Amino acid sequence: MPIRIKRLTENFAAEIKDVNLCEKISMRDFSDIKTAFEEYSILVFPNQPLTDEQQVVFSQRFGDLENTINSKQQGGAGKPVTVLTNVGKNGEVIAPEDRRMVFNTGNQMWHTDSSFKLIPAMMSLLSGREVPPEGGETEFASMRAAYEDLDNYQKSELEQLICVHDFAYSRSLIDTSLLDREDKYELPPVRQAMIRKNPTNRRKNLFLGAHASYIEGWPLEKGRTLIKRLNKHITDGKYIYKHSWKRNDLVIWDNRCALHRGRPWQRTYRRVMHRTTVVGSMTV
Ligand code: OGA
Ligand code: MN
Repeated sequence: MPIRIKRLTENFAAEIKDVNLCEKISMRDFSDIKTAFEEYSILVFPNQPLTDEQQVVFSQRFGDLENTINSKQQGGAGKPVTVLTNVGKNGEVIAPEDRRMVFNTGNQMWHTDSSFKLIPAMMSLLSGREVPPEGGETEFASMRAAYEDLDNYQKSELEQLICVHDFAYSRSLIDTSLLDREDKYELPPVRQAMIRKNPTNRRKNLFLGAHASYIEGWPLEKGRTLIKRLNKHITDGKYIYKHSWKRNDLVIWDNRCALHRGRPWQRTYRRVMHRTTVVGSMTV
């Protein structure tokens, strides 16, 4: 039986049913999923009680996996699975003010994963292992739909612009002491084209989010004003899918053309999410 695809919004995001990701899926199912991913940018797979190993196996079918800075903060350098959790070692719920949590509040700003790396992430896969009964949603915004709605004049004005993305900049918006000097040294600012193109279907999109710091060759404030305006256009409400988590949902998203952000939740609820990230390529 082929997979079932249900569109979730007018522009993007789809739910995929009739596939069991805990097992090795067929070439045909994988190829249908890949095609749907290129088309919809966000795919939701309900009811996938994955182990880390199964999540890694599925993720690796899309490409090599990243080791993220979050996993380093958690002392897990070198592991492909990042655990986003508010549950401590002894099972206690960690307060939002705790430093471990403050670092992750960056996830509540609209962003795209690893745009601050020379080779940004292609895809992230987030598995909801424990989810709050309310709040703690993840929202997505289509930078492709937002681009397509610009008029031709705006599109041509943006076409050649280079944005500098900088992790230290986005984290400094939360708290300037969050990154130590070594982190800054390891993550120097990088240049990214503001307009990118999907290599499969050639559709173009904006590429911005919280890590976008300034525009190369422009006065700082002028660039920041444009970045702010475009980020607002992308996230204004027209191009949004809001995912309310159920336990064992797996949600995968295309970092090349969608922004996302986590939403807050009531401090007593547990939220445990396991993430894998597939590395992108230099040009897209
Ligand atoms: C992420 C992220 C948001 C969330 O995992 O990259 O931004 O809702 N997560 O947990
Ligand atoms: Mn993220």
